[in-house]
Amino acid sequence: MVGRLAPVVRVLPTPALAAQAAGVRLLQLADAAIRERGRFVLALSGGATPEALYASLGTRRIGSVGWEFFLCDERLVPPQDSRSNIGQVRRLWLGPASVPEASVHPVDTSVPAEEAARRYGAALRQFFGPSPGPTFDLVLLGIGPDGHTASLFPGSSTLEVRDLWAVAEPSPGLPPVVPRVTMTLEALGRARAAVFLVTGAEKRAAVAAILGRPGAAKEPVLPAKRVATVAAVEWFLDLEAARELPGPY
Ligand code: 6PG
Repeated sequence: MVGRLAPVVRVLPTPALAAQAAGVRLLQLADAAIRERGRFVLALSGGATPEALYASLGTRRIGSVGWEFFLCDERLVPPQDSRSNIGQVRRLWLGPASVPEASVHPVDTSVPAEEAARRYGAALRQFFGPSPGPTFDLVLLGIGPDGHTASLFPGSSTLEVRDLWAVAEPSPGLPPVVPRVTMTLEALGRARAAVFLVTGAEKRAAVAAILGRPGAAKEPVLPAKRVATVAAVEWFLDLEAARELPGPY
């Protein structure tokens, strides 16, 4: 399901400025959510790209009141493992910002991936209720050079799951090659806002395939392009990642 509205693309000169702009947008969404609903419910991605953003928000002690933290995906490793997404978010942001543990909703990585996905789906249902489903105020996403997002990889059967909000990905297409749990396109697509933060030359081909290289329409639709929310999906890129896009980059 390709997006209903054209994506909003912002290109900043450097990775730091792209992360900073994404941070400003995150805080705007948080202010609106807390003003309208009394809380801000977000799901974060792992990887290297958002590290500076997470560290900045941690240093500024943001998120300790009224914020609820989930993950878009998780690697099936212990939280202390350097590959752990929740471990990274805790180290860079939640710890320094003194976010209460009750507001942190990690994947249970102490069990096999299928069970971990089942438990995560149950946690989402318990938090959001059975209907209309997990309505995150924001899902913060990245992409790999192959166009994956969260742990939804090209060609994986996880892309076609419609009746679950979290699934296991036993064989991810890129390192770390450990079993994953990922939210499904169904869950991500129910978010009120989806923001992609993507930087670096290694992502430029995937960015062009997703956002608009002429002729890309004839290519297989990459997982990141299938994230479709009611609102326009927002992209924060640096110049290196935007290099192959049509336009003045
Ligand atoms: C993960 C992430 C994943 C990430 C991309 C980009 O668990 O690995 O959720 O989807 O966003 O792989 O990773 P980098 O930021 O390290 O390039």
